[in-house]
Amino acid sequence: MKYGYSGRMANLNGTATREIFKLLSRPEIISFAGGLPASECLPKKEIQEIAAGLLGGKDAMRILQYGTSEGFDDFRDALAHYVGKVGIHGVKRENTLVISGGQNGIDLMLKTLIDKGDTVLVEDPTYLAFLQILNSYEGRAVGVKSNADGLDIADLTEKIKKHKPKLLYVVPTFSNPTGKTYSAANRKAIAETTAKYGVTVLEDDPYGKLRFSGESVPALKSFDTCGNIVYITSFSKLISPGLRTGVAVGESEIIRKMTICKQGTDLHTSNLSQLIVKEYMEKYLDAHIKDSLPLYRERKQAMIDAIDRYMPYLKHTDPDGGLFIFGRLPGGLNATQMLPQAVERNVAYIQGSVFYAGGGHEDTIRLNYSNANTEQIERGIKSLAKLIEEKIGGRK
Ligand SMILES: Cc1ncc(COP(=O)(O)O)c(C=O)c1O
Repeated sequence: MKYGYSGRMANLNGTATREIFKLLSRPEIISFAGGLPASECLPKKEIQEIAAGLLGGKDAMRILQYGTSEGFDDFRDALAHYVGKVGIHGVKRENTLVISGGQNGIDLMLKTLIDKGDTVLVEDPTYLAFLQILNSYEGRAVGVKSNADGLDIADLTEKIKKHKPKLLYVVPTFSNPTGKTYSAANRKAIAETTAKYGVTVLEDDPYGKLRFSGESVPALKSFDTCGNIVYITSFSKLISPGLRTGVAVGESEIIRKMTICKQGTDLHTSNLSQLIVKEYMEKYLDAHIKDSLPLYRERKQAMIDAIDRYMPYLKHTDPDGGLFIFGRLPGGLNATQMLPQAVERNVAYIQGSVFYAGGGHEDTIRLNYSNANTEQIERGIKSLAKLIEEKIGGRK
């Protein structure tokens, strides 16, 4: 069959993501490739109990019937209160939209704002799927430089003046892929700069609550003085990605536009998921996060220790939370070319180049530590180090 694909399909290739999912299904693989929360932290028993109670009680009919695109009012009110914990205050119901995970929020934001050829500024490197979704709307990503503090404000200003972007997209806390966090001063500077030039900002925060060391930093949105920042967060890494639930917070005007887009995309987020998350938030969430953090801390530390022991030549980030370490291979090794050889030795990672707006940076890799136990992390890093040393001719 010859299908008449749209022109925008020419820009789309899901290769990197598809490869990840193929690898995950092979049991012998030690995968540092995905971005999944630790399966030990998925609260099966509590969700089972909540779901049974909801479906056996007075909410059964509102769960089984269609809902509104904005989400349930009582859940939206709870979410308006919830984002106060990251310093976003004064949020009303009309400032919230229940989304089917952060991915849905990104898609709705881009659907709302982006015409063919529009420019979006992103931190370089940034979340791969953001670049893919932007491609599907035929937008153009331009990378902004960053430093230890966050975004390079001089570069941001220059690129705003040069490209007149529709949007700036950032993951300021425990970024995917680097694990880096922007300082409060840097967030304030980003808020001021984008407000000054009238640039809309999408702050994506799926990992902020997964902090296992250091002091928490208020959301970028908490520095918003003119309503140009939309904040999205999700329960995927905190409760369960399968529930597909999160929230977008912004001025009621743009939330309304995103809601209209959501009607066409998925009509509304699953009613059952919304009410499960609402009840889970009330009863368990804070304690669950507290109980989960030691496991993430332990696995991150196991990976850092293994890197220090077996590949001290790898320049890498050392995050205080989230799921990822980002590294630069020695001797200009090409991570894309090395990946099949690593997989032959049963270790998977993601080449860093796919996270850059303009590609390149072929010697970078993203390592995820949440989905392997400490013994597998040690074995996987050791095996990767052996491969690297074979390629560069010994330890350098
Ligand atoms: C930065 C970032 N944004 C959004 C998402 C999407 O997550 P979800 O749609 O499950 O909330 C992810 C998932 O890994 C992510 O890393």
